[in-house]
Amino acid sequence: MGTRTEGLLGKLICVLLSCLMVMAAASSRATIMGKVSNTKFHHHSERLRRNLLANGLGKSPPMGWNSWNHFWCDINEDIVKAAADALVSSGLSKLGYEYVNIDDCWGEQVRDENGNLQAKNATFPSGIKALADYVHSKGLKLGIYSSAGYYTCSKQMPGSLGYEEQDAKTFALWGVDYLKYDNCYTDGSKPMDRYPIMTRALMKAGRPIYYSLCEWGDMHPALWGFQVGNSWRTTGDITDTFESVMSRADANEVYADYARPGGWNDPDMLEVGNGGMTKDEYIIHFSLWAISKAPLLLGCDVRNLTKDTMDIIGNKEVIAINQDPLGVQAKKVRTDVEIWTAPLSGYRFAVLIVNRDQWPANVTTHLEDFGIPPKTSVTARDLWEHKTLETPLVGNLSANLDPHTCKMYLLQPIS
Ligand code: GLA
Repeated sequence: MGTRTEGLLGKLICVLLSCLMVMAAASSRATIMGKVSNTKFHHHSERLRRNLLANGLGKSPPMGWNSWNHFWCDINEDIVKAAADALVSSGLSKLGYEYVNIDDCWGEQVRDENGNLQAKNATFPSGIKALADYVHSKGLKLGIYSSAGYYTCSKQMPGSLGYEEQDAKTFALWGVDYLKYDNCYTDGSKPMDRYPIMTRALMKAGRPIYYSLCEWGDMHPALWGFQVGNSWRTTGDITDTFESVMSRADANEVYADYARPGGWNDPDMLEVGNGGMTKDEYIIHFSLWAISKAPLLLGCDVRNLTKDTMDIIGNKEVIAINQDPLGVQAKKVRTDVEIWTAPLSGYRFAVLIVNRDQWPANVTTHLEDFGIPPKTSVTARDLWEHKTLETPLVGNLSANLDPHTCKMYLLQPIS
C-alpha cells in the first residue's frame, strides 16, 4: 500500500471514529433525556393522581359489609338496615367495620323522567337517602353500586355509562360514602378510559366518596388504579371455596408492590361465615386478606353470626395487621410451605405460614428471609392463639401445621 492510500485510510478511520463518538454521545444523551422524561412523567402522574382523586379516603383498607356474597340480588332496605344494626350490636363497628355497602339490584330497571337513577320501589320504598340517614345515625357509612356500562352486571338496573356526572351528583345528594363500580355491558372501550370519567364526576360531586374499581383485574388495574380510585379488584368473583380463596390470594399477591395508603389491591369480598369452608380454612382466608392489606368487607349474613365467625372476623390483633399505618402488602417469601410476610410500623413484621396441602407440614424458616438482621432477638406473638411465645426467637421460626391450617405471628425485635 502506498503512503497516499495509507494516509487516506488513516483519515477515513479518524472520520469513522469521530462519527462513532458523536453517535455514542447522542445515544447517552437520549438515555439521559429518556430518564428525564420518565421522571417528568412520574411527576406528571403524581400531579394527575392528586388532580383525579384527592378524596383523602382509604388511608387504611376499608372495612365493612357488602350484600352480594350472601344475598346476591335478593336484598331490600330492611336487610340493609338490619346489617347496620348488627354491625353495631355485635361490636364489629367498634373494631372498624364501618361501611354498609349495597351491591347490585337496588334500583328500578329504568331511570326516571329526568334521567335519574331511582331506588326500586318494591324493595327500597323509603329510598336511598333515607337509608343513608339511617346508616349514618348508627355512626356508619353507606356504600352503593353501579357499573361503567349500560347496565349493571345483573342487567336488572341501568349502569352509569354516559350518566357519570348525573349519577355521582345523585349519590352525593343521597349521602353515599362509597361507590363500587363494575364493568358489565360496556361500550367496549378500555377501563382505563371509562373509570376516570367517574373519578372526575365524583370529584365534582361535592362529597368525598370512596371509589372502588371493579374491573376484575382484566387490564392490570394495579398499574393505573392508584390514579383513579381507592382500590381495584385484581381478580374475578370469589366463591365460598378454599380453592377460590387461595387462587384469588395468589393472583392478588403479584401486584403487592402497587398497594399503598389511598390505593389498595382488592382480591374480592370475604366469604367467612357463609358456610362453604371449615373454620381453619376461613382463618386462612381472613389472615391472607388481612396481611395482604385487602379491603375487609364481610360477605356473610351479619344478622346471624356464629361464635366461630365472630372469633375470626372479630380478631383485633389480625385486624390491626390489616390496618397498620405502614400500609405495605405482604409477599410470599417461600412457597413449599407457604410463608407470607409484611413489614409493619415500628420495625415489626407480620408472618403468615399457610399449609394449603392435604398433609401435615413442619416448617423452619430463617428470620433473615423476612429482612430481620441475623442474631436479632424477636418476640413472637401468635395472633390466633393470642399468646406470646415464652422464649424470644433468634435466627429461626418453627411451626407444625395440620392440613389447611395456618399460623400468624407478629414479630417485634427486642431493642
Ligand atoms: C360482578 C362483580 C360482583 C358483584 C356482581 C353483581 O360480578 O364482580 O362482585 O358485584 O357483579 O352483579
